[in-house]
Amino acid sequence: MIDRRAWRMRKLLDGDQPAPRWPAGIDVRTLKTPADAKAVHALLIRAYEGDEDIFPSAEDWWARFSGDPEFDGDLCFLAFDSKDGLAGVALCWTSAFLKDLAVRADMRRRGLGEALLLHVFSIFRARGATHIDLKVELDNAEGMRLYQRCGMVRVPWEG
Ligand SMILES: CC(C)(COP(=O)(O)OP(=O)(O)OC[C@H]1O[C@@H](n2cnc3c(N)ncnc32)[C@H](O)[C@@H]1OP(=O)(O)O)[C@@H](O)C(=O)NCCC(=O)NCCS
Repeated sequence: MIDRRAWRMRKLLDGDQPAPRWPAGIDVRTLKTPADAKAVHALLIRAYEGDEDIFPSAEDWWARFSGDPEFDGDLCFLAFDSKDGLAGVALCWTSAFLKDLAVRADMRRRGLGEALLLHVFSIFRARGATHIDLKVELDNAEGMRLYQRCGMVRVPWEG
């Protein structure tokens, strides 16, 4: 369905991509444990300002997310800082779609969002994907700037 309040954006994964530059003290790994899932849910709720329709409970969110045929924990990237734990996430579907990108509020504007995005580009490029897409709301100015800065362009919604 066409969403008029949001753009579908695409990064073509051709040519050389810049390597991510992680802020100091950040470690990145994929989603492994039930504790990871809980921490991701808590971060998303705060990042998206607690939209209860999207995030009913950690258990329901996890059941729906991990039960999706396009789920793969190896395509869910978690960035941790050494002091306060989970600092940012990039959750991707196997169809080369970046479902969620979110950085903890106190860790924003340090380059973590950009590093996670560039990390996702490099992972999907290594998997042989030709492009990766995402959806961004028109009123999300920060997200728009980040995606355009990293070479993403608007593409039509299909269907
Ligand atoms: C969108 C979001 C992921 C960006 O994360 P972030 O870590 O702040 O992103 P970055 O730090 O890479 O870039 C943000 C800004 O900080 C600036 N910045 C990066 N490193 C910096 C540094 N060391 N010092 C000062 N500024 C810096 C960037 O230039 C950018 O500036 P701009 O917005 O004026 O262009 C984050 O705001 C967020 O989680 N928002 C809520 C959830 C959301 O909307 N997600 C996107 C859904 S589509």
